[in-house]
This record gives sequence, C-alpha cells and structure tokens, in this order.
Amino acid sequence: MSSILDNRDALALEVEQVAEVAGYLWQKGWAERNGGNITINITEHVDDAIRAMPAISPIYPIGATLSNLKGCYFFCKGTNKRMRDLARRPMENGSVIRILDDCASYVIIADNPVKPTSELPSHLAVHNYLIGKGSTYKASLHTHPIELVAMSHCKKFLEKDVATRLLWSMIPETKAFCPRGLGIIPYRLPGSIDLAESTIAELGDYDVTLWEKHGVFAVENDIMQAFDQVDVLNKSALIYIAAKNMGFEPDGMTDEQMKEMTVAFNLPK
Ligand code: 13P
Ligand code: ZN
Repeated sequence: MSSILDNRDALALEVEQVAEVAGYLWQKGWAERNGGNITINITEHVDDAIRAMPAISPIYPIGATLSNLKGCYFFCKGTNKRMRDLARRPMENGSVIRILDDCASYVIIADNPVKPTSELPSHLAVHNYLIGKGSTYKASLHTHPIELVAMSHCKKFLEKDVATRLLWSMIPETKAFCPRGLGIIPYRLPGSIDLAESTIAELGDYDVTLWEKHGVFAVENDIMQAFDQVDVLNKSALIYIAAKNMGFEPDGMTDEQMKEMTVAFNLPK
C-alpha cells in the first residue's frame, strides 16, 4: 500500500521520531492502554501533491475556530490507539489531517481514516496559539507520567511554582533543561474546550503544564525535545519520592546553589 511518507524523507523522519517517542512512553509506564497523545504540525513538509490529496473521511468539527490554522496539516495519534502500537506502526495508529478554510473543521487525508485523538481540541488550540506567537515549536505531547500525576493529587504542589521549585532543586540539570518550569492546570474534563483554554493560558509562561489528576502537556520544537522536558521533570519527582521512601524530606539545592546554576547556565530567573 502506498503511503504519504513515500519519497518524502523529511516527513518520514518526523513520523519515525514520533514512533520512537511513543515507544519510550510505553516503556516508561506512562502510556497505559490508549493513554496520551501526540500531534505534530507538519505543514512545512507539505507539497502540492499532498495539498491535492482528497479527503478520506467526513468533515469533522474542531469545536472552536482557530484562525491561524488555515491550510495547516498535522500528524495525530488516533483516538483509542495505543502508544505501543504507534511505536511499531505509526501510520496505522495515527493519521494526517488537513484543516479546512473555515478554520473550524478538518478532514483526514492519509494514510488511513483513523480518527484523531480525543484531546485534539487542546492540541489544535495550542498549535494555533504557537503559530500566533511566531513560535518555532511544532510538537505537542500529552502523557500520563506516574510520579508527576501522583504529585498533582496534593494541594500544596498545585500552588503556583511550588512543584517547579521543588523539582528544580532535586538535581541541577532540571532547571537547565526545563528552564520555564511546570505550569499547573486545575482539573478539567479530558478532551474539553475548557481544558484547551486553560492550557493555553499557562503556555505563555511554561513549556510543560501539569493537568491536575490526569497528566502533562508539553510543547517543543520536536517531539523528542518535548519528551525530554517531561522526562527531566519526572526524574526529579522520582528523586524526591526516593528520598521520602528512605524516610526523610530531601534538603533540595540551596537558594545559593540555584542562583549559581541560573547565572552559570544563563537561565531565566
Ligand atoms: P486518546 O486515545 O483519544 O488520544 O485519549 C487518550 C488520553 O490520554 C485522553 O486524555
Ligand atoms: Zn490523558
């Protein structure tokens, strides 16, 4: 069977990277059943032949009008599809969609009519926001990292920047590689427009947000970098929990040590 990836190396590489990250999410235990989703803005790889491809699905509403998405194309994990299957067969467990000119609906164009993730409202609203900002970010990732989700069940960690400061202080690299920290999104219904809007509201200040009692949502230039940010934060959460399991509250790096790091690595305050 022919594929939209045939003779399109850059696009094929993009999808390969999605498959690689999907495998990591499964190995980490962050992707039970169909848990989590990935979308990539692939518009830069779209040629005239792709633009001429017919729809292979009905027209579906997005649920919002996202005016920056006119003429954009996205690779999306399919709803109810497993990350572990996306890892092995990305084009059977995901699809490429085209946003229609009304900016409020889309069609699937390749390879199979796999309906995109139920979190599409959040993903597309975020891509719309990123384009509006002139951002270079093309990838968005939602996943269920065990320790970060566990922390979101505790009120004190949901206060602004409390979790960020704690996680940064567990190991110096966390601030270096996740310099904007972790934004907090109060619990919202999965897949809802409300969740999409709350996520965008935090992305001005953070690249990774924690959806209370659900998961994280991260944006980056590519999907590997989005995964890295979540991995670094979750590693810090693991160190915190390991210390607690040994029976003590970890000291964390001192303010002095954090300050020294911030200056040496030229990080934002
Ligand atoms: P999908 O299978 O629709 O992508 O949903 C998974 C999920 O994690 C919803 O929050
Ligand atoms: Zn989820």
